[in-house]
Amino acid sequence: MKSRVKIFDTTLRDGEQAPGCSMNLKEKIEVARRLELLKVDIIEAGFAISSPGDYESVSSVSEIIKDCSVASLARCSEKDIDAAYEALKKAVSPRIHIFIATSPIHMQYKLRMTPEQVLEKTAVMVRYAKKLCPDVEFSAEDATRSEPEFLARVVKTAISCGANVINIPDTVGYTTPGEMRSIIERLILDVPECEGIELSVHCHNDLGMATANSLAGVLGGARQVECTVNGLGERAGNAPLEEIVMAMRTRPDIYNADSAVDSTKIYSASKTVFGVIGRTAPLNKPIIGANAFAHEAGIHQHGVLANRKTYEIMTPESVGISSNRMILGKHSGKHAFDDALKQLGYNLSSDELSSCFDRFKVLCDKKKTVSDRDIEALVRNRDSETCHRYILKGFSVHAGCQEAATAVITLEKDGKTFEEVALGNGPVDAAFKAVDKIINPPEYSFENYVIQSVSEGKDSLGEVLTTLRIGEHLFTGRGLSTDVIEASIEAYVLTQNNLLEYHERQGGKINV
Ligand code: KIV
Ligand code: ZN
Repeated sequence: MKSRVKIFDTTLRDGEQAPGCSMNLKEKIEVARRLELLKVDIIEAGFAISSPGDYESVSSVSEIIKDCSVASLARCSEKDIDAAYEALKKAVSPRIHIFIATSPIHMQYKLRMTPEQVLEKTAVMVRYAKKLCPDVEFSAEDATRSEPEFLARVVKTAISCGANVINIPDTVGYTTPGEMRSIIERLILDVPECEGIELSVHCHNDLGMATANSLAGVLGGARQVECTVNGLGERAGNAPLEEIVMAMRTRPDIYNADSAVDSTKIYSASKTVFGVIGRTAPLNKPIIGANAFAHEAGIHQHGVLANRKTYEIMTPESVGISSNRMILGKHSGKHAFDDALKQLGYNLSSDELSSCFDRFKVLCDKKKTVSDRDIEALVRNRDSETCHRYILKGFSVHAGCQEAATAVITLEKDGKTFEEVALGNGPVDAAFKAVDKIINPPEYSFENYVIQSVSEGKDSLGEVLTTLRIGEHLFTGRGLSTDVIEASIEAYVLTQNNLLEYHERQGGKINV
């Protein structure tokens, strides 16, 4: 019998905490929906007391998500635990996740507490949380640099006071697979009470060993793994969910353990998360990078054609990388379009469906075959439909060798039309400058511009992500078109709309 390993996803908490990975509420809800489709067991939706945004995220995700437990992080303090409890009130299955550091360096320099005080705090706060919520997880922060005897005492205390999950974080990504396995094995031996609870691991990737360390924890007896989609997280990130899930599924002979994750939803969850933070996967990223299943070298191709298993240890289909099938065409109706979306895992509201269908029809006029990848891109880019600020109404660019590029841009806002012309180093630069002339944004820096084709072929859709920065705030927008200049301008106008909206909400001020 294979052991069941629970997947605790912390993309919306530990992942979102990382610089450049912040998400607004709408984006967090979108990610939470993807996680529910993936069938993760627990979604850590935020750290309720840390900011109004985190509180709102925990409370909205609690209200919307029905098929997963929802957790909020809390320090060992009544105020933190109260905030987590309040934010989780609407969750079908709430979990309070409390933590305190247990390593000598953290206790001495960060907490300024003695080990005995940490033990006492653990006991009091786990008891307090347990009175509010039946599901309490306790994390011994920096566990892998803690004294083993002290760690065992803390774990014993937390269990005796009501914790039903004990998490062993490798907070600074310092441990090794052998060490992680023996920490878990030793805890099981030294603290017999571990028998009645779940042991969990939470590994950071500072030495590139987060996946290996998490899996070693499973071999040692951990039955929950904490991870994030695409491995987002502080510094070098957390263990990537996709790697943990696929390693257990590909090597049952080694792990004899599996999760309940629907692996065919991995690719679209990964795309959603990258889209939200305005990044794309490195080409060689395991499981979800563009080259992960490409067999370019002739020798490999020959082998794969003869028998896929020669070079393929898992199939692209098993992680939801579609075969780019042509699924709909010019004559497909709204009903068929909606059915195709549902098969791809998207349940859109009727307004969203109508606007996506309109864009689909426009696309059918430009592109002979519309594949499932195109449709997923249309859904990912549906934000541009809901924007009520500046809308791109028209553009014309002129560019050539050894001459400055020119762009004329027409935008519309509140029924009024604005037109500007600008010169630039290329057509995209000129177009962005013309947009700036119209909207006159507050001072920003250009953080990132990514352009990628959605599928193969000369008539492929181009997807563009632009990211702007003001101080610590990042603003992202996406554009999609068979014309990459148009996609770039769309993405840029949307990014500026997001920036302006935030600027207005702050009363015209952005703290830098
Ligand atoms: O890395 C860490 O120690 C954490 C804990 C709060 C679980 O994220
Ligand atoms: Zn962490």
